[in-house]
Amino acid sequence: MSAFINELPKVELHLHIEGTLEPEMVFALARRNGITLDYADESALRAAYDFQDLQSFLDVYYQGMQVLLTEQDFFDMTWAYLSRAHGERVRHTEIFFDPQAHTDRGVPLAAVVGGIHRALEQARQQWGMSSRLIMSFLRHLSEEAAFEILHHAEPFRHKLAGIGLDSSEKGNPPAKFARVYAAAREQGFRLVAHAGEEGPARNIRDALDLLQVERIDHGVAAVQDGKLMQRLARERIPLTVCPLSNLKLKVVDTMAGHPMLTLLRAGLCVTVNSDDPAYFGGYMNANYQALQDGLGATDGELLQMALNSVEACWLSPEEKAVLVRDVRAHGEAFGVKH
Ligand code: HPA
Ligand code: ZN
Repeated sequence: MSAFINELPKVELHLHIEGTLEPEMVFALARRNGITLDYADESALRAAYDFQDLQSFLDVYYQGMQVLLTEQDFFDMTWAYLSRAHGERVRHTEIFFDPQAHTDRGVPLAAVVGGIHRALEQARQQWGMSSRLIMSFLRHLSEEAAFEILHHAEPFRHKLAGIGLDSSEKGNPPAKFARVYAAAREQGFRLVAHAGEEGPARNIRDALDLLQVERIDHGVAAVQDGKLMQRLARERIPLTVCPLSNLKLKVVDTMAGHPMLTLLRAGLCVTVNSDDPAYFGGYMNANYQALQDGLGATDGELLQMALNSVEACWLSPEEKAVLVRDVRAHGEAFGVKH
């Protein structure tokens, strides 16, 4: 691991907290909750992390999170991620969670939001690490179900910064959620959506025009549409790209074929993120390192991506200024220009 990457101050903007459950924690929580898993042990579970596409991952992902039952479970999972992120110099993180995947199993939303939020608060107090929480709708479920969870979340509104959209992109285009996004916007939520991961560039345009999102999660399909790339660059719409995720889910065949640098050089606000790090082989540092080792990104380009993440995050201008100063100082300490 390069010292430049290791010590670079980082902001993470695309992280599913349920995707941070390492096999060891899945088994520990299963034991604690008296749940029998379909896998004999941790290594058998890890062996199942061999995906053909997004859906084959999602099947394992929804299975893994069934060990989460109590507020303490959600706290422990979130605290494990935050400890790891803190160790990788992540200074600010914006975290997704999938409420419907828990409430549909009978887990109270208060336990989900309460446990995650308690860990975020402890990280803020202990390390000065800041965060935001983003509630995602599962796009393979109905519009009605999304409206239901939005309503159900009203008592927790003050703990939630934004709304996201994840799960199976194919067959579930942005238009399906236009009305529920309009309702969320009226409630003052900030809006993002997964688009252009496995789906076409068209989904990115529709997420912007029909859902009115301010950031696109993934968005790598933009590279197939020159006009859309120009628009994303002109409007500085951030893309929260996840290199190791794209490789593991075969969105790209090799890291050398990843469009990250094409998008960066076209002037897009691309950022580096880990998505579901327990499943995709690495947290933030590993994603930056993969861009360097597999794609040949220079330290200067990585520095620019780290600055893009500060620009794209939801901190106040004053808080962003502190992070920009620290990222720039890190570059200067290593003699890196961008
Ligand atoms: N894409 C879609 N849904 C998801 C993902 C993702 O990368 N991670 C968790 N749910
Ligand atoms: Zn994602």
